[in-house]
Amino acid sequence: MSKFITPLVIGLLVLVSASKAQAEDVQAKEAKSVVEQIVDVQTKIAGGPHKGFRANHAKGIVATGVFTPAASAASLTNAAHLQKTPSEVIVRFSNATGIPTIADVSPKANPRGISIRFKLPDNQFTDIVSLSVNRFPVATPEAFLAFLQANVATKADSPKPTPIEQFLEANPSAKAFVKLPKPAPASYANQSYFGLNAFKFTNAKAETRYGRYQITPLAGNIALEESQVVGAAPNYLSEELATRLKQGEASFRISVQLANEGDNINDPTAVWPDDRTQVELGTLTLKAIPADGKNLEQKIAFNPLNLVDGIAPSEDKILLARPAAYAVSVSRR
Ligand code: HEM
Repeated sequence: MSKFITPLVIGLLVLVSASKAQAEDVQAKEAKSVVEQIVDVQTKIAGGPHKGFRANHAKGIVATGVFTPAASAASLTNAAHLQKTPSEVIVRFSNATGIPTIADVSPKANPRGISIRFKLPDNQFTDIVSLSVNRFPVATPEAFLAFLQANVATKADSPKPTPIEQFLEANPSAKAFVKLPKPAPASYANQSYFGLNAFKFTNAKAETRYGRYQITPLAGNIALEESQVVGAAPNYLSEELATRLKQGEASFRISVQLANEGDNINDPTAVWPDDRTQVELGTLTLKAIPADGKNLEQKIAFNPLNLVDGIAPSEDKILLARPAAYAVSVSRR
């Protein structure tokens, strides 16, 4: 009898412990915040974890320079770096994905990023963190997680419609994002960047306006020609920036596109019309690649909610989720 019972009991025990493990896995996932799950999926997509690197925008380069405010900036905000005095800046340009060795011409390296840290007196600072596209795919962290999960679930042999096709059909803003052209820029300094999330700006008279950053290269937007893409070196963007800054400077105009009455200020998928007023904040001038740039890059943690008086977040759910996501990534770097 026991000859039969023993394997049966063992079998039952295996089944019970397997379903317990599954239940624990489900519980662990439930216990994880949405942003932590996003960082997990970003890491998976990048074939990570890649120790020492960011979970997203892993490949980048740091430059230093100065920001000089324009006279118009103070009409929008009383923020300390947007009055008369120039500030020193640290800027990081980056490629999308958590793949530290991604080739600069890869379509997956788009969108590019720009992160700007303005140094203020008394060791204070404030950041702008922007992308090279004028829209985000989705308006909530939950939808962003679902978008990334649909990407992971889609295999070369997935039956049609694939999980990502289904997601894009159900989410027109994500479809519009995916359809954006993805040209490789001739230089990080020949690329426009967009803040996407709106902020509330308050001036000395306590007047408030909502707006989004736009960062426009003074050297113009230039994409690589098809023939240049083929021969481009994997790291041509950082090499080009280093050469450019040895020979001179790279400058950008930073401005804020103001929301009109009725523009959606809490939805980064909503593109506001081009006719909206732009307030010039000033000129960002990059001068050098610092000698300790790699060390600096590893240590620095940009955060769009490192703010100062005169600038406050909107209620955009994507914006409000970003600091927690970046903190998870920083803690794992
Ligand atoms: C819920 C939405 C988002 C999530 C979960 C997310 C997640 C991340 C993570 C995990 C990192 C790495 C952080 C680090 O280790 O320092 C990162 C970096 C970055 N993200 Fe996001 N992101 C989101 C939305 C955005 C948006 C809306 C923008 C721009 C408008 C943006 C621009 C960037 C840039 C430029 C970097 C590189 C920062 C650097 O240079 O250190 N992200 N993001």
